[in-house]
Amino acid sequence: MITKVSASILSADFGHLENELARAEASGCDMIHFDVMDGHFVPNLSYGVPVLKSIRKYSCLPFDVHLMITDPLKYIDAFADAGADHITFHEEVDGNAHEIIKKIRSRGLTAGISVKPSTPIDNVYPYLSELDLVLVMTVEPGFGGQGFIPETLTKISALKSEISRKGLAVSVEVDGGIGYNTSLKVRAAGADVLVSGSYLFKSENMKNAVESLKRQMI
Ligand code: DX5
Ligand code: ZN
Repeated sequence: MITKVSASILSADFGHLENELARAEASGCDMIHFDVMDGHFVPNLSYGVPVLKSIRKYSCLPFDVHLMITDPLKYIDAFADAGADHITFHEEVDGNAHEIIKKIRSRGLTAGISVKPSTPIDNVYPYLSELDLVLVMTVEPGFGGQGFIPETLTKISALKSEISRKGLAVSVEVDGGIGYNTSLKVRAAGADVLVSGSYLFKSENMKNAVESLKRQMI
């Protein structure tokens, strides 16, 4: 599979989101990653439905919404109405994952499930046939700019093998601490979609940064 890049706007300049979205699109990003934090599931607050709704018109790229919130089911309609294309929720939340996936799909969106670094990857295996994507967190969710946790690499490769073994077309997304060096490791382990925030938005030349994440590996 060709590597895709999802730009996490958590590291963008919030005062100039229109420009930041244009920069990501012009630089070859494939998606916009929208991190939603509720101060409960993770110890931080970010942004939610009204922000997504107001910036939707500034980008033609798909919006890849990552819900780090305790009750995802309650907000799926609102994010779908606001213009989300994809929703990922966390395996660690209470609630029936089959029901949450079904709800996301009923709104015509693609669905993903995510695991924190300490959650065993096999926890998502019962849902694989219903999913479009699995997001393996490569840092503790909650903050941008953290260091990549190398122990997550074995989870990425185990997940990739399980997807191949079942003959499914589920994408493997990784999120946290992704820059050029770590991109090589996660891609070798089987990642298809790389979420990147600080590496892209703090770069002087975002186009070069995106290209470095997608460059053909020898
Ligand atoms: C962390 C978020 C990430 C974060 C990635 O909870 O899910 O998407 O923005 O940021 P970097 O690339 O800076 O680690
Ligand atoms: Zn994220």
